Amino acid sequence: MVRPFPFFRAGVRADPDAAQRPILELSGVSKYFQRDLPTLRGVDITVQRGEFVFVTGASGAGKSTLLSLIYRKHTVDEGHIFFCGKDIARLTSRSIPFLRRNLGVVFQDFKVINHWTVFENVAVALEILAMPRRLVRARVAEALERVGLAGRGGETTENLSGGEQQRVAVARAIVTEPALILADEPTGNLDSHLAIDILTLFEEINETGTTVLFATHDHSLIAKRDHRLISIEDGRAVEARRGLSSWPGSGLHALVG
Ligand SMILES: Nc1ncnc2c1ncn2[C@@H]1O[C@H](COP(=O)(O)OP(=O)(O)OP(=O)(O)O)[C@@H](O)[C@H]1O
Ligand SMILES: [Mg+2]
Repeated sequence: MVRPFPFFRAGVRADPDAAQRPILELSGVSKYFQRDLPTLRGVDITVQRGEFVFVTGASGAGKSTLLSLIYRKHTVDEGHIFFCGKDIARLTSRSIPFLRRNLGVVFQDFKVINHWTVFENVAVALEILAMPRRLVRARVAEALERVGLAGRGGETTENLSGGEQQRVAVARAIVTEPALILADEPTGNLDSHLAIDILTLFEEINETGTTVLFATHDHSLIAKRDHRLISIEDGRAVEARRGLSSWPGSGLHALVG
């Protein structure tokens, strides 16, 4: 059983009114990597605090692009993204620290530093926030416990299995107590059993109040759960019904038939 963090969820701390608003609102968001060929066009998505949302779509549909606009690897060409009520769609020096503090991101390829210890890989997320060492130690230990790696902080990360390395990446994403976690194909490099383990870990984190956006093209994984499902099709976000079995879109119903 995963304990909730003892601190109030981030984002609310930064702005007391934020708790009243959806955690994430995309309105009319478009992204053009090429002129006249939008990857995303007029995407509208509202995510409430505490939701677990799958984001799916064919390869190249724009799942990673969508997430990258939220964590600001890329900036939108049109539209707005409100995160905890703040417009973060375009680059401003003020929104970057706000995002770092309130957003955790997990990738398919883990992005852990192999020659660092497990502890160092998780602690780095707090060190860039200039948190005192003693607090860093306590918070890292707690995050490692939450991902099932209690007592493993001293190990070199490269000696860990793929599933364990992804747990380190999840610990790094949650150690700042973010309000929102973005996961971009976090199970893409794992076999099907480990994929379920990692999905379950995200669900446990979600149960403690953290909102999760989980991008995956793995329909067998999606079909196992009843979470809200958003599909990116022709550059737009299509709301699919909960549970793929009742979803007529893209022939996915045949998979769970
Ligand atoms: N930095 C970039 N520069 C140019 N084009 C890009 C860039 N990033 C993404 N694209 C294009 O945007 C489209 C969507 O790509 P994206 O990576 O978001 O798809 P995806 O749904 O995540 O696919 P996958 O399931 O393969 O991960 C693709 O046509 C891709 O080539
Ligand atoms: Mg992708």
